[in-house]
Order: sequence, then structure tokens, then C-alpha cells
Amino acid sequence: MSRTDILMTAPMMPIVIDTLEKACTLHRLWEQTDQEAFLKEVGPRIRGVATSTLYGRLEASLLDRLPNVEIISSFGVGYDNVDAAEAARRGIVVTNTPGVLDDEVADLTLGLLLATLRKIPQADRYLREGQWLKAPFPLSTTLRERKVGIVGLGRIGKAIARRLAGFDVSIAYHGRSQQDDVAYAYYPTVVGLAEACDVLIVITPGGAATRHLINADVLKALGPNGVLINVARGTVVDEQALIEALRSGTILSAGLDVYEDEPRVPQELIDMEHVVLLPHIASASVHTRNAMGKLVADNIVSWVEGKGPLTPVPETPYKGR
Ligand code: NAP
Ligand code: 8YV
Repeated sequence: MSRTDILMTAPMMPIVIDTLEKACTLHRLWEQTDQEAFLKEVGPRIRGVATSTLYGRLEASLLDRLPNVEIISSFGVGYDNVDAAEAARRGIVVTNTPGVLDDEVADLTLGLLLATLRKIPQADRYLREGQWLKAPFPLSTTLRERKVGIVGLGRIGKAIARRLAGFDVSIAYHGRSQQDDVAYAYYPTVVGLAEACDVLIVITPGGAATRHLINADVLKALGPNGVLINVARGTVVDEQALIEALRSGTILSAGLDVYEDEPRVPQELIDMEHVVLLPHIASASVHTRNAMGKLVADNIVSWVEGKGPLTPVPETPYKGR
């Protein structure tokens, strides 16, 4: 029996490559010197695509050259790198990697929150620069007596809330709808949540629906003691409004893992001492990235074996073949 042809758009982890090579014929797009000629010849045979949020958007123009694709398996729980509505229109199932990274991302979020409030990176720099020999590090702000608002109480938002409960802080949330099985206070608007809280943790999907959800009005409502933590997508926060709010003291500080134009980070943020900046590492441990990679490959293998994809996104539910 002939093996199913799968296209990988850019280099992925060994676990993805090794698993797919065992079950399918894997084609590496990035290794082709003449990609146009390759796609013309092999494109019509391709039935599945493995791709990643690490490598930008999967354009509809590529799908035009892959007329028989049935599944796109994307690395990352966020799938704003794939136009799922367009995939649905073409009858293509899109899969992502939910669940396997919740704890890792939640752990990092708590680390980033504490690092921002207690100025852990600044204190590390202070010691290394020999400043401690001259004077103690200045007293920091605190998590004590704060009210934390979570924007996007989904799988990861809930894992963050569970951890926060151990820190004895009050927790509230905003989403498009109230969740019946959740005891935290619900705010139907993000401005309302920001007014009620002095920490906002953003962990929604990216894409058009959440673009600049955190804008100048939200930051004003968060107030001069307010701290913004963004582990969602850079697009969810109006970065220029954030820079202005940090510069003017409209909010106190910010901890960011994601940016509007990654890996480029505005120099204004880099120059600020009162922000903590991470290079999009919330899921980036060997353990968790391997689990994500395994799920990317397992989705395709399950589909190749006729068992359907494991984690299709809601826009492209699997309806059988
Ligand atoms: P999820 O379970 O689908 O949860 C998403 C939450 O966002 C839901 O509670 C949803 O509630 C809310 N939401 C969706 N659209 C919204 C909108 N327009 N306005 C307000 N709230 C909205 O997803 P997850 O697995 O927790 O992942 C969340 C996101 O985190 C991912 O999509 C990704 O962008 C980001 N992420 C980042 C990293 C990183 O490395 N920094 C790692 C993993 C994930 P409602 O439906 O009630 O609105
Ligand atoms: C990864 C993420 O950094 O899952 C997501 O949505 O943003 C992160 O886990 C990303 O997928 C790497 O490509």
C-alpha cells in the first residue's frame, strides 16, 4: 500500500519528524531549492501538513498548491497562524496542541508575575553589577493583598487560577461569557475587570477577535498600582498604548512573554527598568515541547490510520471521511 504524503513547512522537533517518517512519506518544504517546482510536482499528492506557530502564517496561497490536503496539524495551542475559517471552507481539518502545555504555561506565568512584582531580574542584575557591596537592593512591590483579574479563563487561565489560589489572593475573570461551574467573580467587560483588579493576566487566543482587547482605556482602568502580565499573544495588547501607560505611570509595571512583531521587541520596552521581558518561552521546556510535538505527529498518524484527528479545533470539527 502506498504511504500517505505529508508536507512539513519548516524544521520541527525530532519527535515530530521521527514519528511522521515511520508512518508516512515526509516532504521537507524548507529543504527544496526550487519550492515552486517542488509544489507543482508533489503538491497534488500531499494529504496532510505539519506546521508551527514558530514559523509565521500558513498562507492560503500555499493551500492553493495543495488541492488534496485534508489535515493541517499545527504546533501550539494557539492557531492564529492558520486561517481556520478558510480551512473549514476547503474541508480541511486543523488540529492544535491543547492541554499538554497548561501546567508549564501556568507555572511560567506565576514566575513572571512574581519576577515583575518582586523585581527578580533587576535584583539579579544588581548583584552581578557589584551594587550590593554598596547598598541593599531597594524594597519592591508585592503580590500581597492584590486582586488578580484573568482575561481568558480557559484551560491555561484555570491552571493559573489554581496556582494563584495557593498565594491567597483574590481572583476574578473576564471572558465573552460567564462560566456556571466557576466560583470566581465574573466581569462582562474587560474595563470592568481592570477597574476591580490591580493585576491583569491576559491568556486569551490571538487573532482578529482579540486584537487590542487590552487598550488605553483598560490600562487607565487598571490604574497606577496596576500590573499587566501578557502570556497570550502580542496582538491582544495595544503595544503603543502599553508603552505610553508604562512611561506616564498610568500603570505600575508589566511582565510580557509575547509581542506584536516577534522576535522584534520595541526599544522603548527594552529600555524600561520596570518591565520584565521574556522571549515567548511560556511552554518552552524540553518536556512540554516534546509533548506538544508528539501531539502534532499523533494527530496526523491517527488521521492516516483512519481513526480521525485527536484534537481538531472547533472551527473545523472532524466529520469522518
Ligand atoms: P482556551 O482553553 O480556548 O481558553 C481561551 C479563553 O479565552 C476562554 O476562556 C475564552 O472564554 C477566552 N476568550 C476567547 N475569546 C475571547 C474574547 N474575544 N474576549 C475575551 N475572552 C475570550 O485556550 P488555552 O488553551 O487556555 O490557550 C489560550 C491562549 O494562550 C492560546 O490561544 C495562545 O494564544 C496562548 N498561549 C500562549 C503561550 C505562550 O507561549 N505565551 C502558550 C500557550 C498558549 P470565552 O469563550 O468565554 O470568551
Ligand atoms: C509556543 C504558544 O511558544 O502554544 C502556543 O500557542 O504560543 C506556545 O506554546 C508556540 O506554539 C511555539 O510555536
